Amino acid sequence: MARPILIAPSVLPADFSRLGEEVAALEAAGVDLIQWDVMDGQFVPNLTFGPDVIASARAHTTLPFEAHLMVLNPDLMAQRYVEAGCQRLILHAETCTHLHRSLARVNEIGATAAVALNPATPASAIAHVLDLVDLVLVMTVNPGFGGQAYISTMEPKITEVRRMLDEAGLSDTVDLEVDGGISPSTIGAATAAGANLLIAGSALYRDPLGLEHAVSELRTLANEARAASATT
Ligand code: DX5
Repeated sequence: MARPILIAPSVLPADFSRLGEEVAALEAAGVDLIQWDVMDGQFVPNLTFGPDVIASARAHTTLPFEAHLMVLNPDLMAQRYVEAGCQRLILHAETCTHLHRSLARVNEIGATAAVALNPATPASAIAHVLDLVDLVLVMTVNPGFGGQAYISTMEPKITEVRRMLDEAGLSDTVDLEVDGGISPSTIGAATAAGANLLIAGSALYRDPLGLEHAVSELRTLANEARAASATT
């Protein structure tokens, strides 16, 4: 049975002065987990959440936390993000000299490991680490900021990763996540290409009908796209 459609927020657009209330509101709106976009100002030209900031929000929701580590040296602070309450750590293939060892270590320190691919990085970069992860993230923007345009030329890569997971017998246990420019107008194509976990930031917060409507609409559109692609 393929993994279900999951909708998760990036909290980048949230009000950082009220993060506890913001994650509680996201849980009430029906998201499946919370993604923290961790940026170090080195790997990407932006700086966001340290482990203590994430820890401050932990008690305000029962949802799983995943840390998307857009940082040059994820090994350095991986343990800190686990201690802050993250159940999953997403490492970028581009930042790990020894990606296999870094992912294996995440699994040893009490979180599940996941791997992310920037737009220019081929799917083949993760061909030999799929057994170590419970999620593959295909970026559909160049990381660093929310509100960017969805890069539709990533769809063949999404489909290639889906095929890799299928061929490895992992599509029942490993999520295929897409992050960047996900909105009502792009979620269908990303899902039809093979994604099942969709990250949205600005699309959630700009919905005039509120977070719950935005989450519900994205989930409905993704499930409709999955159903339509299953019949073709
Ligand atoms: C990029 C960030 C964004 C964010 C989602 O580094 O990872 O992709 O999560 O932002 P939106 O949904 O506004 O593109």
